[in-house]
Parts: sequence; structure tokens; C-alpha cells
Amino acid sequence: MKSLTSVEIRKVFLDFFQSKNHLVHPPSSLIPSNDPTLLLTNSGMAQFKSYFSGESEPPSKKITTAQKCFRTTDIDEVGDSTHLTLFEMLGNFSFGDYFKIDACKWALELMTNHLGFEKDKIFISVHVDDKESVEIWKNIGIPEEKIYLFGDEDNWWGPAGDEGPCGPCSELHYYIGDKDPSSFKDLEKEDGWGPNTHEDFVELYNLVFTQFYHHIDGTRTELPNKNIDTGMGLERVATILQGKNSVYETDLFSSLISKIEKKSGFKWGSSSKNNSNLEERSADKAISVLAEHSRSATFLIADGVIPE
Ligand code: ALA
Repeated sequence: MKSLTSVEIRKVFLDFFQSKNHLVHPPSSLIPSNDPTLLLTNSGMAQFKSYFSGESEPPSKKITTAQKCFRTTDIDEVGDSTHLTLFEMLGNFSFGDYFKIDACKWALELMTNHLGFEKDKIFISVHVDDKESVEIWKNIGIPEEKIYLFGDEDNWWGPAGDEGPCGPCSELHYYIGDKDPSSFKDLEKEDGWGPNTHEDFVELYNLVFTQFYHHIDGTRTELPNKNIDTGMGLERVATILQGKNSVYETDLFSSLISKIEKKSGFKWGSSSKNNSNLEERSADKAISVLAEHSRSATFLIADGVIPE
């Protein structure tokens, strides 16, 4: 796999969707505007809620963005290899333009032909009631045994905040374990092996088929149009494409980590079980959390969230 910097990954994504006639739109602030139901921008679609609901006209029916996002709900998992409070979501959006077929086709084309992921290691999750998407993935070359079905907990997205657009989703997961794809046929028969259930899989790209509006009273109605809302996590993609095991080893974090190492006198990456020095082992998590929180706090402050 070709190693790409985070700047290159972002550019490949935006250029790809620009070549498919998407308008490259600037990201919004982390403080949502005109949305009292959402504390912080948590997804690429947040700034476009009124385009999905039909309340206002988008500048283009096809848009692509690289959006800084903040998820307070992930704060307790910060320090593992993938979860962050602040991350960048690369997204492509359709407001009543293309729907499932193009969203799936372009996602696979981008991942394999442009970012260099191995097709054999891509697994798909689909909402259990969405037979149409299963057929689409099969038609574009994903074998049925690599398509896993899940319910609302895993394959329903939204709304962002207490109300807004939402719908069933389909995700592209990547196998990061050390087994050769030729052994997948046997592994697929094992209970608990596969996306969402096994640690050798990472969710990279979520395609939401935004068809419903979730109202504040809990009811859902159909939207006037069928839409697409997607999100690919830049930090996770960079981890894999740069051949690393953790977001903290990517170019997005390396300068922060080395600064903390210099100041603290501890080295990141000493948490191996073979290291008998307990202090060094536990310093790893502390360094990761410090790097993550200082990065996310910087972005929040830059957008006007001032600590009191
Ligand atoms: N809005 C979708 C998500 O955040 C793409 O996963």
C-alpha cells in the first residue's frame, strides 16, 4: 500500500468528489449556528441539516467537505488506538441528487483505486432491513459473505442533536489483522469474527441513506428527497495508510507526541507487556490523552469555546 500523508489523503478525497461534480465546501465552526439542539458540530452533515430537510436550498446538490468534528461521547475511550474527541470527517453529500448506487460505487472506487486499500480486506455492514444495499454491494463486486447485517444500534445514523435528518447506513470496514485474505473463508465461519465484533476490523467510511426526519417528539416522517450523507475518518485512514497501529503514530500527532516526550522525559510506545517498568507502561496512555486533549482544546478555543 502506498503511504500517504494526512494532507494527501484529504486532497485525494476532495479531488475525487470534485471530479464527480461535487462542490468543495468549507467546513463549519465547531460551534453549530442556528441549531439549539446540538452543542458542538459532531459530523459533516451538521451544517447541512436545513438542506436535507428542504428548509433551504444548497449551493449545489452535490457537496464534499473536510469537517472538524467533536464527539464528547467518545471521551472515555480516548487513549486507545482509534477514538478521539476531535477528528476530521471527510464527507460527500447528495441533496436529492444521487442515492445508494452511486454512493456505494464511488466509495469503493475511491477506497481501492485512489487511496490504495486492498479490496480483499474490505468488509461491509448493512442495515438488516436494507436488502437493496446488499444487492448493490454484490453487483459491484463485494462477495455476499463479506456483507454483514446489523440492526439500528450499528446501522442507523442520526439525528445530529435532538432532531433532524437520519436514516439507515452502510459502512466500509477494513481488516487490519495479520491473516492472509486466503484464510478469510474459514475465519468467516467463526462466531464473533467480522466487522463491529472483532478487534481486527476498523470502521472507516459510513454511508448514510438519509430518508427520514426525526422530530423532537420522537416521531419520524419521510423527507421530501432521498439524500446521501457520508463520513470517512481522516485519522483512522491515515493510521492504516501510513502503516501504523495507532492514530498517535501518524503525522497528525507525531509533533505533539515528541513535544510531550521532551517535556515529560517519558517515551511514547513503552506499553508493551514485556516492559517491566510499570511507570513507563502507564505513561503511554497519559501521553496519548495529553496529546489528544491539547489538540482538541486548541481547536475548540480557536472556534470561540473559552474555558472559564
Ligand atoms: N453522519 C455520518 C456519521 O457521522 C456520516 O457517521
